[in-house]
Amino acid sequence: MKFSLKHKNVLVTGGGSGIGKAISIVFAGQGAHVHILELHLDNAKDTLTEIKRTGGLATSYACNVANQKGVNSVVETILKTGNIDILVNNAGIAHVGNIENTLESDMDKVYNVNIKGTYNCMQAVISGMKENGGVILNMASIASSVGISDRFAYSMSKGAVLTMTYSIAKDYIAHGIRCNSISPARIHTPFVDGFIEANYPGNEKEMFENLSKTQPIGRMGKPDEVANLALYLCSDEASFITGTDFPIDGGFIKLNG
Ligand SMILES: NC(=O)c1ccc[n+]([C@@H]2O[C@H](COP(=O)([O-])OP(=O)(O)OC[C@H]3O[C@@H](n4cnc5c(N)ncnc54)[C@H](O)[C@@H]3O)[C@@H](O)[C@H]2O)c1
Repeated sequence: MKFSLKHKNVLVTGGGSGIGKAISIVFAGQGAHVHILELHLDNAKDTLTEIKRTGGLATSYACNVANQKGVNSVVETILKTGNIDILVNNAGIAHVGNIENTLESDMDKVYNVNIKGTYNCMQAVISGMKENGGVILNMASIASSVGISDRFAYSMSKGAVLTMTYSIAKDYIAHGIRCNSISPARIHTPFVDGFIEANYPGNEKEMFENLSKTQPIGRMGKPDEVANLALYLCSDEASFITGTDFPIDGGFIKLNG
């Protein structure tokens, strides 16, 4: 079978919702044992139920990726069951605002989850991967490489996710570790519904339409579409790919304008 993840231990952060949930389900369907690190363990229950219903293997752990001690302790627990072959750094939070209305506390919050969370997870798994090889996939964004209005703190964080990807890919290429990132445009997940609700109350429908149209293809992406790209990049079929970012954007970066 192509794209098999049989006997692979995969760690997915934020696997309880949206893109992370789709990745967890798709990877488990390919035979992986999926370990979900989730801030909201209740969310992860749904993912686990879905995976187990189809005979897959998954375990969830309550974990705030921004907390290094917490991440290290969960990773130690997982390592007792075997090597971690694949890490998917997916957990992330949104923030809307330009530099004038972005508070210091907003910057810290977005930094702690999106940047430090990614760092914490990579730091926790890297020594094991140095011995056995592995794959790291980071969830960046179109905001990593093009200007998106009103996303000052978020863009800062996703730019860092992209450049951390290049740094890890370079430093660990000789150890058999591949590191890539995915840059989605708007994907329809609770993350999108949540920030529309919070930031455009009363205008939800109009904002949803507007955000759909910002992709030249005319709609938002689906979590499964991202999960299938993630599967390819984490599979042995992608063994020649490292240090690369993959936009999945309905034409957003190259076809707008
Ligand atoms: N949806 C989009 O349009 C879009 C576009 C580009 C990039 N992304 C990125 O994709 C990733 C997933 O987005 P989504 O839309 O599926 O989001 P989502 O909000 O639907 O899911 C994110 C999950 O991460 C978990 N999480 C949040 N903070 C955490 C923490 N500190 N520790 C552990 N878990 C935590 C949440 O509980 C949630 O289950 C994010 O990194 C996001 O920035 C999303």
